[in-house]
Amino acid sequence: MSDAAVKEGASVQTLRRLRTEHGPVFWDRTRPDMLTVLDPQVTQKLEAMNFADLTMLDDVADVIRGRKSAPFDWHRLRAAWQGQMRHLMDAEGLRRLAHDMRRIVEADVGRPLDLLWLAERVSIDPLVTPIIAGLGPRARRIVVAEVLSKVAWVLGDVDHDRIVTVVHKPKMIALQLLAGLVVRRELKGRATGRRPRQRDLADPVVDLMPTLGLGRAVDAVTSLLTAITGSPGAAAGCLLFELQRQHDWRARMEAELAGVSLEALCEGPTRQAPVTARFVKEVLRIWSSPPVVTRNVRTELSLDEVKLCPGQQYTISAYMLHHDDRDWHDPERFDPDRWLSERRGQCPHGSYVPFGWAPKNCVGANLGMAQLMILAHLFCTRFRIEPSDPDRASMAVASLVRPKDFAGVVHVREAAAAEAP
Ligand code: HEM
Repeated sequence: MSDAAVKEGASVQTLRRLRTEHGPVFWDRTRPDMLTVLDPQVTQKLEAMNFADLTMLDDVADVIRGRKSAPFDWHRLRAAWQGQMRHLMDAEGLRRLAHDMRRIVEADVGRPLDLLWLAERVSIDPLVTPIIAGLGPRARRIVVAEVLSKVAWVLGDVDHDRIVTVVHKPKMIALQLLAGLVVRRELKGRATGRRPRQRDLADPVVDLMPTLGLGRAVDAVTSLLTAITGSPGAAAGCLLFELQRQHDWRARMEAELAGVSLEALCEGPTRQAPVTARFVKEVLRIWSSPPVVTRNVRTELSLDEVKLCPGQQYTISAYMLHHDDRDWHDPERFDPDRWLSERRGQCPHGSYVPFGWAPKNCVGANLGMAQLMILAHLFCTRFRIEPSDPDRASMAVASLVRPKDFAGVVHVREAAAAEAP
């Protein structure tokens, strides 16, 4: 990686070196039970085979009683979420999301900010309602605080001053317990008719409770909250970072979005603003999180020369696939126009996986994409960033890919300030 503003961690640097020495699929000499797979087609097939029969873990209550829970197919739960996503993604749902995002930025206007942390809050807080709506203010605060405490923990791998170690972990565990209780109370209330049903991702879980049981229903909803701790906020931080340094692209997007109101954008974000959509796709290509994932082998896997059995592991990496010059033309270059329809042939099939691989790919991909479009709209029309030390800011590729030392002040643009609030 030739970009001086990018700091790739040791694991990615090692993968780059080993990829050159050994090719796309290799056993790690230092870890004999670990196969590294950096070939798009092999990754796709291994993931499909490894998770074909994925069921939910047993209910903790059953584990304590020493008995097995009735098997529950994970794909059934995913299908229920995907059905509900269609409602959350309608124009009304996206406008609510946009409103919540704007409110969070507005509250921080004029103050010196850690812009990555702003991006995390702007992504995560508004996503809590689509996951579990109808909570009282205190319960909602607990859930948001729980998710953010996990984010701070993950970001602590590079930004050591982000967490106060001694206090942070017990607090994070306490919040996890409290958030679990909030989710349990809400699901139980809806199942017994004491609380109203909602248009959120928790609601289809209520319908599945007769077979799932309360314990696993809570696990399902908390797994959604865990899923939003990593990639959405990191992607939002990367988007703001690129918006700051890609001056020509920012000008193009400002010109495009000046003609598309936020209301109109929510009718169909990528359709309404194709230039911005290309920018967002490119941000997700060049800065994809998590960069490296390690899987436990769940079942015997046999694919041509590759043979794996339970107890072994394999490593896969969307980041490495997105930066492979065998598949991409000039992969280190930030070039949203590579997504123009006439250049699509240069984007190899199976090599663009910012939302992971089926059948464990992202359930919220479209919502995540829409949220990034809304963020771009907000920062190209209503707000602008004044970075405090642009030369210091860098991109850290560690457990997540996200900007570091990215600080500044958010201002309301003059034209937007003149409009009615
Ligand atoms: C730009 C935003 C987002 C990005 C880049 C992203 C990326 C990803 C990736 C790479 C995975 C696969 C992780 C793995 O294979 O271990 C994943 C899984 C998941 N994501 Fe997202 N995500 C985003 C937004 C969201 C949103 C908004 C939601 C829900 C509200 C969501 C829910 C999930 C869930 C539930 C899974 C786990 C799926 C499963 O295990 O079957 N994501 N996401």
